Amino acid sequence: MGRARGRKARNEREAGATSPDRGAQRSAPKTASRGPSNADGGEKTGLQHNERLFEAEVLDGLAPICSEELVRLLGRQVRVFPSSNPSSVSFEYSGDPAKLLGLRTAVAVFRLLYFKVPHPLTIVQGANLPRLKAAIAAARARERFKTFRISAAGSESKVFQKIKNAIASASGLANDEQEGQMSIRFRRARLRPFGWDVLVRLTPLPLSARAWRVENMPGALNATIAAAMVLQMDPRPTDQFLNLMCGSGTLIAERAAICPAKRLVGVDNSREAIAKARKNLARVASLTLLEQDVGKLSLQDGSMNALCADLPWGRLIGDRNKLQGCYEEALREMSRVCSAGGMLSVITQESALFEKALERHREYWTLDRSLRVKQADYKPKLYVLKRRSKAYSAEA
Ligand SMILES: C[S@@+](CC[C@H](N)C(=O)[O-])C[C@H]1O[C@@H](n2cnc3c(N)ncnc32)[C@H](O)[C@@H]1O
Repeated sequence: MGRARGRKARNEREAGATSPDRGAQRSAPKTASRGPSNADGGEKTGLQHNERLFEAEVLDGLAPICSEELVRLLGRQVRVFPSSNPSSVSFEYSGDPAKLLGLRTAVAVFRLLYFKVPHPLTIVQGANLPRLKAAIAAARARERFKTFRISAAGSESKVFQKIKNAIASASGLANDEQEGQMSIRFRRARLRPFGWDVLVRLTPLPLSARAWRVENMPGALNATIAAAMVLQMDPRPTDQFLNLMCGSGTLIAERAAICPAKRLVGVDNSREAIAKARKNLARVASLTLLEQDVGKLSLQDGSMNALCADLPWGRLIGDRNKLQGCYEEALREMSRVCSAGGMLSVITQESALFEKALERHREYWTLDRSLRVKQADYKPKLYVLKRRSKAYSAEA
C-alpha cells in the first residue's frame, strides 16, 4: 500500500519447487570455518582453480536466511562461507548447478571464479581465459544467452574494452552493455586478500522474477522476501496456511511453490486485490480466497497453524491511528485463529506500531526471530513469532 517499491519486468520461468526437510530448516547453516582455499587443502590446490564456487545475491538482510535455504535445498553438497557482506552468500557446491536455480530467497546466482592476478586484463590472457570461457559455456549449456554485459568499476575504460573484446571473441557472445543477457562482474577478490573475482550469472533474468506473477499491484511484496517469510515458518504438507491482507497473493504463491499444504487461505478486504490474487494463483491447489475485513474473519478459533501478513503501511494509509487500529484487529484475529504452537510471520516498516499491538497480545506469542530487510528505499522489519498454548479469550 503506497510503497514506492521498485518493480522489474517479471514473467521469468519460475524457479523449481523444493521439498522441505524439517530437520534442516531450523538448524544453523553449515558454514566453512575458514576460506575455501584452506578448506581445499591449501592454496596450491584450492581457490584459484576451484570451479565449484558460487555466489547468491540477496536483498540486504536476507543473507542468513538464504544460507539456511542453501542447506535445506542442497544438504551436504554445499558449504557456505562466512561473510560480513549483507547482500551476498558465497558457497562451494559440488552438485548440479541447475539445482541452484531453485533458490527462492536469492535475487540471482553467479558462478564465482577467483584469479590470483594483479590486473583484470590478465584474466583474459594466457591460461586464465579458458577458465572464464568454460564458465560461460557451462551457463550457456543450460540457458539461452546471445549477449553479455560487464559490470565493474571502470567498465568504460580502455582496459575493459579489451576485456570485452576478448570475451566476445572467445565465447561467441555479442557485447551489449545496455541489454546484455549474461551479466559478468569483475571485482577485487573478496575471499582472498589479493587478486580478482569474476562472477558469471547463471540465468538471463534474475531468479527473483517469477513466472506466476501475471498481475502486479503497487506495494506487492518482493518475492524473495515472501519466500524468506514462508521458509521461516517451517513449511509442511499438513499446514493450514493463512495469509492475512494477501493483496496480489505473493506470500501464497511462494508458499505453494515450496511444498504442498493441506489448505491455503488468503484474505483481503479489497475486491481488486482478491481478483489479482486469483489470477496470480490460478494454478495453486487447495486455495480459498476470502474478501473479508481482517478484524472479522469467518475462520474458526485455532483452525490455522501457519499465518503470515505483509501489513499495510506508508503513504496510502495516511492516518496512523487508523493503521494502529488495523494492526490491533489483525493481531487479535491472528491470536484467535492460530492454533497452539503455530507460527506467524509478519513484515512491516511500522515496527513501533506493530510492537505496540503485540504488547497487548504478548500472552499469546513468543518472538522467535526478527530482522531488517532492505527493499528499495525502505528497511521493513520481519518478525517470526510462535503461538503460545494459552487458549484465546475475547476479553484479552
Ligand atoms: C501491503 S499490501 C499486501 C501486498 C501483498 N503482500 C502482495 O504482495 O501483493 C496490504 C494489503 O492489506 C489490505 N488491507 C488493508 N486493510 C485491510 C483490512 N482491514 N482487512 C483486510 N485487508 C486489508 C489491502 O487491501 C492490501 O491489499
